[in-house]
Amino acid sequence: MLKAPPAVFKKLLSFANKTCPMEGTTTIAQTGDIADLVAQSARCFSTNALTTRQARYSITKGNSIVLLHRSKRGELTSSCLIEFYPKQVRAYLNAVCVEFSYRGRGLGRWYMTLFEKAAALTGCHTLTSTAAVDNEASLRLHLNCGFIVTGQQDDYYDDGRAACHMRKNIRES
Ligand SMILES: CC(C)(COP(=O)(O)OP(=O)(O)OC[C@H]1O[C@@H](n2cnc3c(N)ncnc32)[C@H](O)[C@@H]1OP(=O)(O)O)[C@@H](O)C(=O)NCCC(=O)NCCS
Repeated sequence: MLKAPPAVFKKLLSFANKTCPMEGTTTIAQTGDIADLVAQSARCFSTNALTTRQARYSITKGNSIVLLHRSKRGELTSSCLIEFYPKQVRAYLNAVCVEFSYRGRGLGRWYMTLFEKAAALTGCHTLTSTAAVDNEASLRLHLNCGFIVTGQQDDYYDDGRAACHMRKNIRES
């Protein structure tokens, strides 16, 4: 098991709660959050949504962090799954999703800052991410946050859509 050490979690959560653009609470997902995460992913992604098995693995075993934000009323507003590849000093944004009613309020951009912070705290130099070629919101979000498109891959998603691979290099903190 390669979970990031608690000190990293603590620093990341402190940064997240200081910088969040909305009221509520940011936490590292626990197994009790799985049902909400899977349901939200199914609402936000038309294909390749998070499965219960993937969520459980990411939360309990994977070299990854699942961050989530809940409103003051306890609703899951948004979440992201970041994976770490230490040998490549690289972090990968597997998914970020914001519930429809909470979009356009800065949460997506905030998750990109958390992604970068999580990478820096774990010594990663490179951030990578993927979005469907027709996912304008995600592509703009990434490009506005300093990512560049490094390539396109046909038939990447289960529904046959192509993906854009993106990258951003950061300095070691
Ligand atoms: C992509 C997504 C995470 C953006 O979340 P959000 O909280 O609405 O984003 P923000 O309010 O922080 O917007 C940040 C930037 O994203 C871009 N953006 C967000 N929504 C957009 C839209 N509908 N069209 C074009 N650009 C958009 C803009 O560049 C925006 O910056 P601006 O407001 O200064 O123009 C959200 O739309 C989502 O969850 N989509 C479904 C899941 C998904 O596709 N995730 C990404 C692939 S892993």
